Amino acid sequence: MDPPVPELADRAARCADRLRAADEVLLVSHIDADGLTSAGVAATALERAGIPFEATFAKQLDSEELERIAATGYDVVLFTDFGSGQLDSIAAYEERGAFTPVICDHHQPAEAETEFHCNPLQEGLNGASELSGAGTSYLLARALEGEGVDNRDLAALAVVGAVGDMQASDGELEGANAAIVEEGVAAGVLDTGADLTLYGTQTRPLPKLLEYASDAAIPGISNDANGAIRFLDGLGLDLRDGGEWRCWADLNDEEKRTITNALVRRAVSRGVPADRIDGLIGTTYTLVREEPGTELRDASEFSTLLNATARYDRGDVGLAICLGDRGPALEEARRLLRSHRRNLSEGLRWVKETGVESEEHLQWFDAGDRIPETIVGIVAGMAVGSAGIDRGKPIVAFAEKNEDDAKVSARGTHTLVRQGLNLSAVMGAAASAVDGEGGGHDVAAGATVPKAARGEFIDRVDRLIGEQLG
Ligand code: C5P
Ligand code: C5P
Ligand code: ZN
Repeated sequence: MDPPVPELADRAARCADRLRAADEVLLVSHIDADGLTSAGVAATALERAGIPFEATFAKQLDSEELERIAATGYDVVLFTDFGSGQLDSIAAYEERGAFTPVICDHHQPAEAETEFHCNPLQEGLNGASELSGAGTSYLLARALEGEGVDNRDLAALAVVGAVGDMQASDGELEGANAAIVEEGVAAGVLDTGADLTLYGTQTRPLPKLLEYASDAAIPGISNDANGAIRFLDGLGLDLRDGGEWRCWADLNDEEKRTITNALVRRAVSRGVPADRIDGLIGTTYTLVREEPGTELRDASEFSTLLNATARYDRGDVGLAICLGDRGPALEEARRLLRSHRRNLSEGLRWVKETGVESEEHLQWFDAGDRIPETIVGIVAGMAVGSAGIDRGKPIVAFAEKNEDDAKVSARGTHTLVRQGLNLSAVMGAAASAVDGEGGGHDVAAGATVPKAARGEFIDRVDRLIGEQLG
C-alpha cells in the first residue's frame, strides 16, 4: 500500500525503526484533544507492534517537565503533539545521553535537529491546517505496521485530533489530512458528508442545537431559547418524539433539508453576512463504528469530550476512551464535559462583560484566576467576533499559571495569516525577551511569561505583530 503522505514517509519510517529497536518506550503527549488522540494512535500502534510502553501527559514541555522525563530512566522517549518547538532543550538531553527522542509533532520546530523527527513543517506542509499531531502519529502508526497489522482504523482518531485543533475551520480537512480521511473511509471507520456544522448534532435536542449556535449568530434563533422553539414549530415537521425534542442526527434527509433551507432563508432575510451563512454547511466527519447519538459519533463532539478530560488533569480518562473504553471512562468524561461547558460559558461571559484592551495591532485581556489557564485559549478564540471584540486583530489572553508566571494564549485568523501574521514566531520572540518561553502555530500560539513582565510583553507582541502585518 502507498503511504498516505509520501512527503513524510521516510521520516515516519525512521521513527518507526527506532521504536522497534527499543526495549521499552516512554510515550509523552500534550493535554488537549489532539494530544490525547495522538497518544491513542501511538499507543495502539506500539501495542500492536509488541513494543512495551508507558504513556504520560504534560501541559508543556518546559525544563521541569523534561527533567521529570529524564528522571524516569527510559532510553527512548516518544513525544507526540509537542517536542518540535522544544528541540533546543530536548537535544541537550540527547547529547548528554539522557534519552533518545523520537518526535511526531506539527508545531513550528526550533533550531536544533534530531534524527528521529517527523513534522509536516519540515517538508513544506502546513502544520496548522494540513496535519495535526494525531495525523503525524497516524503516519508513524502506518509505518509501524508489521505482518498482518492494518492500522488504518486509527484514521478515525487522527481525524478527531485534526478537528480538535480546528484544522477543518475552513469547511473541511485538506491536504495530508484529506489523505488520512480517505484511508479511514476505505477502512470503514469514517464517513464524510456535507451537513450542518453546528456543534452538537449528535447529542443536543434541536432547540438547544440552534439556541447555542452563537457562532452562526442567526437573529431570533441563536441565544434565543423561545425563538429557536418558535422557528422549529413553524416548520410543519414532527420534531418531537414522545414529547421529547429529537436530535439532528435522528432526522431523515428530507427533514434535515427542510430545516437547513429555512435556517438559510432566515439568515439571508436578517442580513447575516454571506461567509457566515456559507459556514453553516461544511464537511462533517462521522465515526461510523460509534453508537449514534453519542459524543463519539461526531469528530467535533468527540474532540470536545477529550478536551474536557485532559485539560483538567484527567488525561487518563481521555486516553482510556481513545483506547476503546465505553464504560466507566465515558461516564466520567461526560461528567467532566458538563463542568468544562460551564467553565467555557462562564469564561466567555466574563470576557464579554469585562471587554478587552485595545493596542495598535492587537487586543488583549487578563483573566487572572477567573479562567483556568488550560482553557483560556479556547475562550479567547470563542470570544472573537462577539460585540466589542474585533475580528481584524489578533487576541492575546493572560491567565494565572502559578504565583510567578502567567499563561498566554494568542489567536489570529486565516485572513491575518495570509497577510503575514505568525503568532508562533511572535510568542517565541516576545516571551524569550522577557525570560519566558512560547511557540505554537501561525494562527494559534501560546507562552509562559513572568507576571511582572506582562506589560513589556504586550508592548513587544504589539510591535512584532505590527512588523509582520506592516
Ligand atoms: O497544541 P495544539 O497544536 O494541539 O493546539 C492547537 C490549538 O490551536 C488548539 O487549541 C486550536 O483550537 C487552536 N487553533 C485555533 N484556530 C485555528 C487553528 C488552531 O484556535 N485556526
Ligand atoms: O494553550 P493554547 O491553546 O493557547 O496553545 C496554543 C498553541 O500554542 C498550542 O499549539 C500550544 O501547544 C502552543 N504553545 C506552545 N508553547 C507554549 C504555550 C502554547 O508551543 N508555551
Ligand atoms: Zn496539535
